[in-house]
Amino acid sequence: MIELQNISKTFRKGSEEVHAVERVNLSVDPHSIVALIGPSGCGKSTLLNMIAGLYPPTKGKVFYDGQHVTGVNTHAGYMTQKDNLLPWRTVIDNVALPLEIAGVSEEERYEKTRKMLAEVSLDGFEDKFSSELSGGMRKRACLARMLLYEPQALLLDEPFAALDAQLRLAMHDLLLQLWTQNRQTILLVTHDLVEAVTLADRIVVFSKRPASITYDETVDIPRPRDVREVRFTERFREIYNSVWEHLKDQYDEERI
Ligand SMILES: Nc1ncnc2c1ncn2[C@@H]1O[C@H](COP(=O)(O)OP(=O)(O)O)[C@@H](O)[C@H]1O
Ligand SMILES: [Mg+2]
Repeated sequence: MIELQNISKTFRKGSEEVHAVERVNLSVDPHSIVALIGPSGCGKSTLLNMIAGLYPPTKGKVFYDGQHVTGVNTHAGYMTQKDNLLPWRTVIDNVALPLEIAGVSEEERYEKTRKMLAEVSLDGFEDKFSSELSGGMRKRACLARMLLYEPQALLLDEPFAALDAQLRLAMHDLLLQLWTQNRQTILLVTHDLVEAVTLADRIVVFSKRPASITYDETVDIPRPRDVREVRFTERFREIYNSVWEHLKDQYDEERI
């Protein structure tokens, strides 16, 4: 579904160069959930931006559903690190914005948006302003806005990082429920290894900058998973430990 072929990215500002990504090869199977984990600043968001087609790699090629990505990839849903809801718009008008831009009639976009808001348990909040929402509700609104496109792939950049532990669990549960219904391909950037093992079929570990893949682990924990209980299972602990062995080296090196 998503294929990165020998991707490198160097940002240039005047004479300064930042090597953000170094020779990344990654092939993501359709309908799978793949977590990308690595130290802060290593180049994870840069990778997602290239899959979303916001800018091209310096070297290598990105393929999405068999097509070479050469411009903005509107087929993939993208939830960026910042939520960019517009504070002067109501929830329904924020979530419906992409449909509004696409010229969908008010009646049709409100109907679709109301259904989607119910899916993420935001029914009853349609007419609130986004500035009146809690952090978890804002994330739900962003999820709804992205899902309205019915994208086959979701690019999620640390979507739940700012939430407290209870809300994060509720969002994990919601994400897995939505995935069970629609089976999108999901690329999830996270710093949280518990989140990665709970949600993913596969965890890919990145080095500190420039990001390159240092480890790749299959998470063979059966589904459906209970997001509150799965972390107490033996298999979870084994996978957590084996990924942590590789991840901790990146953090250790970072400290020196
Ligand atoms: N548009 C840009 N111009 C220059 N440098 C950038 C740009 N975007 C990201 N970088 C740099 O690339 C590196 C990786 O950034 P990023 O992909 O955001 O890391 P992560 O998401 O893993 O925390 C950082 O050093 C960052 O400062
Ligand atoms: Mg980032």
